[in-house]
Amino acid sequence: MQQNISFSFEKFGSHLELSADDQTLLQEARNATALAYAPYSQFKVGAAAKLSDHSIILGSNQENASYGATISAERVLLSTISSMAPHAHIITLAISYKTLHGTDANPISPCGICRQALLEHEMRHKTQFRIILSGQTASVWILNNASSLLPLAFSSDNLIE
Ligand code: THU
Repeated sequence: MQQNISFSFEKFGSHLELSADDQTLLQEARNATALAYAPYSQFKVGAAAKLSDHSIILGSNQENASYGATISAERVLLSTISSMAPHAHIITLAISYKTLHGTDANPISPCGICRQALLEHEMRHKTQFRIILSGQTASVWILNNASSLLPLAFSSDNLIE
C-alpha cells in the first residue's frame, strides 16, 4: 500500500518579515559563523539557540586535519546546551552559514548526522523546537520541529532490551 509523508514549512523573502525575537536569533547565528574553525572547507556555519531559560547559546563548525573529527555547528551547539543548561529546552534554533566567495544567500538545511542529533535532543527533552534556516541575506525558511527533517528515523524507541 502506498504511503506518503509530507511536512509544511514557511518561506520568507527576508529576515525583516520575522518577529523581533526571531530576527535577533538569526542575527546571532549569522554572527556565529565568525566563530567557525573551517580552514579546510572555508564553509563557516553558525548556529544559535534560544532556550526556555531565555538564554541564547551559540555553536559553530570545528574542523580537524583528520577530516572525520570535524564537528558540525549544530552538534557543537547541542553539546554546549547539554553541558551549560542541561535542564533547559530549546525554543527556537537558527542556522546560518558564510562562504569565502559570498555565495550564501540560500538557506542550508542540517546534514544527516545533525538531523539524527537534533531529533534525539527533541526526544530526550520531550519538546519540539522551531528551526530557522537562512544564509547571510535574503530568504528564510522556518520549520516547526526537527523531527520532520528525518522521516522514518531510527531512535531510542527501536532499541528494545
Ligand atoms: N557543516 C555544518 O557545520 N553543519 C551542517 O549542517 C552542514 C555542514 C560543516 C561541516 C564542515 O565543517 C563544513 O560545514 C563543510 O561540510
